[in-house]
Amino acid sequence: MFLLFAWIYCSAITHYLASDSTLDKWLWPFHKPVGLLLLVLLILRAGWSLLNQHRRPLSISRFAAAGHGMLYALMFLIPLIGMIRQYGSGRAFSAFGVPVMEGFEGEKIQWMVDLGSNFHSLLGWTMLVLILGHVGAVVMHYRQGDKQVLRRMTRGVRQH
Ligand code: HEM
Ligand code: HEM
Repeated sequence: MFLLFAWIYCSAITHYLASDSTLDKWLWPFHKPVGLLLLVLLILRAGWSLLNQHRRPLSISRFAAAGHGMLYALMFLIPLIGMIRQYGSGRAFSAFGVPVMEGFEGEKIQWMVDLGSNFHSLLGWTMLVLILGHVGAVVMHYRQGDKQVLRRMTRGVRQH
């Protein structure tokens, strides 16, 4: 998921700064399919996390728990809102060759399109700021002597 997030933010930043550049033409077509894949992975991940709730390590602080909760909420809402706008636009959509939406004739569903136009990019950039803060927090904990902090993400903690 980390690699896919890196990809999706490269595509968003290029699209914002240099739409129609060669790099944009290469990255942008994957924005929606990769976004949908991230939504599916997030749902699997959240399900896995809930199944293992009784044996999850405790958060290191309430602040960390709140920050991670916000990241989870945004990881869900951003692609969901993207998909809602896609549906409302009435255009067909397939991801990695798999048909996802058939599209429909006639008027767009305006509230769906507006929801996407008003919130998708805004929340997307908000999450990028949070991610940078999140990585900053890891660096801070590491410098303060908590050398295990990264291990909690990569390998987990040993249960007693
Ligand atoms: C976790 C997944 C996603 C993230 C983090 C994300 C993030 C972003 C960001 C930051 C932008 C702003 C780029 C800009 O201003 O040029 C953007 C634009 C856009 N995203 Fe996503 N996105 C995700 C998933 C999706 C999905 C699933 C769809 C549709 C199926 C989608 C459709 C779009 C479209 C159409 C735009 C262009 C919006 C515009 O030009 O107003 N995104 N996305
Ligand atoms: C270089 C990039 C990153 C580093 C070094 C990093 C590091 C960490 C560390 C050390 C933890 C464990 C914290 C703890 O146990 O209290 C963690 C957890 C977490 N990270 Fe990251 N992270 C990175 C990128 C991301 C990204 C891109 C996202 C999502 C958009 C993300 C979302 C989360 C979430 C939601 C948790 C909590 C997991 C849970 O307990 O269920 N991280 N990260």
